[in-house]
Amino acid sequence: MDRLHDTAIDTATGQAAPSELSTERVKGIFSSIAGRYERFNALSSFGAYRRWLRTMMQQAPLDGNSDVLDIAGGTGDVSRMAARTFHPAHIQCTDLVPEMLEVAKAHRDHGDFDGVPVDFAVVDAQDIPYGDNTYDAVTMAYGIRNMPQRERALAEMHRVLKPGGALVCLEFSTPPNPLWRGLYHFYLHHLIPFWGKLVTGDSSGFVYLAKSIRAFPDQAGLAALMEEAGFRDVRWVNCTGGIAAVHVAFK
Ligand SMILES: C[S@@+](CC[C@H](N)C(=O)[O-])C[C@H]1O[C@@H](n2cnc3c(N)ncnc32)[C@H](O)[C@@H]1O
Repeated sequence: MDRLHDTAIDTATGQAAPSELSTERVKGIFSSIAGRYERFNALSSFGAYRRWLRTMMQQAPLDGNSDVLDIAGGTGDVSRMAARTFHPAHIQCTDLVPEMLEVAKAHRDHGDFDGVPVDFAVVDAQDIPYGDNTYDAVTMAYGIRNMPQRERALAEMHRVLKPGGALVCLEFSTPPNPLWRGLYHFYLHHLIPFWGKLVTGDSSGFVYLAKSIRAFPDQAGLAALMEEAGFRDVRWVNCTGGIAAVHVAFK
């Protein structure tokens, strides 16, 4: 495990790099766009963002008794959707960036969690401050790609899950069809920075988004990382021809 814990990459390139490089960049990006993040998602994905969240919920083995840990919960979209879909016993909504969680808390104050008890905490997924075997499920959308120590983060998620518990992970991925993949990569590199600048006034975070998606492992590669971290019975379903994928993995 120590070997895994020492591995860190630049999440924009996939190359070995000190963990601080990616962590500081990610903090800078998400703290500055927190207030406009949801609008960007809705516009840039032409609504696919909501559909993919629904696919994530269809795959999630949650119920009314579940204690759920939402990792990289951001502005709380996954936690809110889980609250409305399953009415779980409790959700711990966490993120590295306090400004993202402030938006999530405002949603809570508006009653958007349907009365489900939700707590919020600033947590680095690579060093989760909760005990072993605590949660029935871990949810994470668009989180692992931004983490420079992915094996370590996945091992931490495995540790805090109860035996039999599930990790449900939504992440950008690789369309298997070459034509669709080509079109998608064109969109990523030319149009995502344009949308980003239009909505947030700054394209640099969206250039990073495009690069990090290209540098991220494909469906089978992410499944292999999960297995290395100790997960079993890893499966995935593609969203919109593989632009994104929902992986489910068990402890
Ligand atoms: C693209 S957003 C996704 C937010 C939310 N899950 C959603 O679906 O809208 C990525 C989030 O990952 C968070 N993040 C990045 N690195 C992290 C880390 N090491 N630990 C926890 N959260 C992290 C960022 O702060 C950001 O809020």
